Amino acid sequence: MALTIKQKTQELRKRIEAAFAGGGEKAIEKQKAIGKLTARERIDSILDPGSFSEYDMFIESSNNDFGMNKVHIPGDGVITGMGTIEGHPVCIYAQDFTVVGGSLGYMHAKKICKIMDHALKMKMPIIGINDSGGARIQEGVNALAGYGEIFYRNTKASGVIPQISVILGPCAGGAVYSPALTDFVFVVDNISKMFITGPDVIKSVLGEDISQEDLGGARTHAEITGNAHFFSHSEKECFAQIRKLVSYIPWSNTKKAEEFMPRNPKKQQFESLVPADSRKPYDIRNVIKAITDNSEFLEVHELFAANLVVGFGRVNGQSAGFVANQPAVMAGVLDVDASDKAARFIRYCDAFNIPLVTLVDLPGYLPGSDQEHAGVIRHGAKILYAYSEATVPKITVILRKAYGGGYIAMCSSHLRADFVFAWPLAEIAVMGSEGAANIIFRKEIAEAENPEAMRAQKIAEYREKFANPYAAAAYGYVDAVIDPSSTREMIAHALDVSKNKSEVAPERKHGIPPF
Ligand code: HXC
Repeated sequence: MALTIKQKTQELRKRIEAAFAGGGEKAIEKQKAIGKLTARERIDSILDPGSFSEYDMFIESSNNDFGMNKVHIPGDGVITGMGTIEGHPVCIYAQDFTVVGGSLGYMHAKKICKIMDHALKMKMPIIGINDSGGARIQEGVNALAGYGEIFYRNTKASGVIPQISVILGPCAGGAVYSPALTDFVFVVDNISKMFITGPDVIKSVLGEDISQEDLGGARTHAEITGNAHFFSHSEKECFAQIRKLVSYIPWSNTKKAEEFMPRNPKKQQFESLVPADSRKPYDIRNVIKAITDNSEFLEVHELFAANLVVGFGRVNGQSAGFVANQPAVMAGVLDVDASDKAARFIRYCDAFNIPLVTLVDLPGYLPGSDQEHAGVIRHGAKILYAYSEATVPKITVILRKAYGGGYIAMCSSHLRADFVFAWPLAEIAVMGSEGAANIIFRKEIAEAENPEAMRAQKIAEYREKFANPYAAAAYGYVDAVIDPSSTREMIAHALDVSKNKSEVAPERKHGIPPF
């Protein structure tokens, strides 16, 4: 006799219960004991309450497992579906470490690919929560095929929809390359671990002793490698960061970021924030916060290459990407890491229609054999490429020093900034006065009766002639020398009048950036 609707519904409930049980109580307890939430709790904490609808709950492990899969748990160790953040739809997946260590088998990968395809088709962000031992060993080449399919989709979706990776557990082996192909990687202290080969392999191959944390913990990736863009101390803090980030970016490359109600910054005293003596350090983030609405600024890559600051803020309600030298760290020089950091952020903003505001105060590129051998030519070229390629509105404010290649690289008019403003403090020159005077007046200084007095005189002469914004303004390289107190107003106006900017790039398959 056929079952009644009630009986069928009861069967459905049982199946749902089995899926919700994941890898069982013991495995869930182990997860909780190390401060981790379960996959479903994580999804619920990121999305608007009650907004999640799950797909493919009843998918099971592949039969292409060479007969080695011991467990067939509904869902196959990954939860996928859709929900909303502040009412806007997003696609999401979360690997469930309690099920075979969150390892990626054929059907697990198929689920991820399906939700990625959905996100790309529907033009909405995809958020991936990684917590996995990597390729499911017993599924052999089918597990590897799964990763390949994900990497392909990550690449195709790049610059079309936002892709966000959250590392909340191990992310080992080839698994690391999906996050590396996405736009933003979030890590949590003591929970996230990313490495190609773990400490055991390193010990046996190289004889090197290193802990998981030192090798690929959250701090390592946020500070040293730059693989992670956002660092937090708890999963809760991490989820708040994700929700904040998505408020600044558009849902796809065909949209603009949502506009908010304009708000005044809390402080706007620019003069007191920047010392007139161009050798004195200060924190550029205070200048950014004097420009942005409610003085809010979401810094990206905060702990990596701190000599340059990038992140999102709003000006008069409009989202903007800020790129700024940080005179508080190494005088704000550009080096290999700062160049990579800037270039990637610029390209992200350009791909997603977010205008760029560049604040300039730097002595130039960092000299030295370390930097030369680390490839400062190749890496430094990335900024030039990224700014030149970008067609979003580009607004530059030169606050103090803008010397040499640094002047050109930081979105000068030559790389097609739409507006270049300079403060009266600005020194736009090939190099600093001391260095320049020593080179071009070497003979006069050497032959003078009092070389030190002559050096001082020549430095003063050089400063008078070149260390100001007016030589550049005289050639139209600076559009306006502005009163620092009007900085926010000028940027807001420039953003406002650039809303309909359109620039058509010459037709080509794609350029070849200096990767
Ligand atoms: C199958 C796996 C697994 C895997 C973990 N498990 N990783 N099963 N394939 N890759 C299983 C374990 O057998 C265990 O099952 C359960 O998940 C929990 O794992 P534990 O080891 O008990 O957890 P823990 O002590 O927390 O250690 C976590 C870990 C460790 C550090 C991630 O499991 C580990 O080292 N796993 C292998 C990591 C790795 O080398 N991955 C690379 C695979 S190759 P039971 O039944 O005991 O509960 C790869 C290449 C892809 O990814 C290439 C793409 C380009």
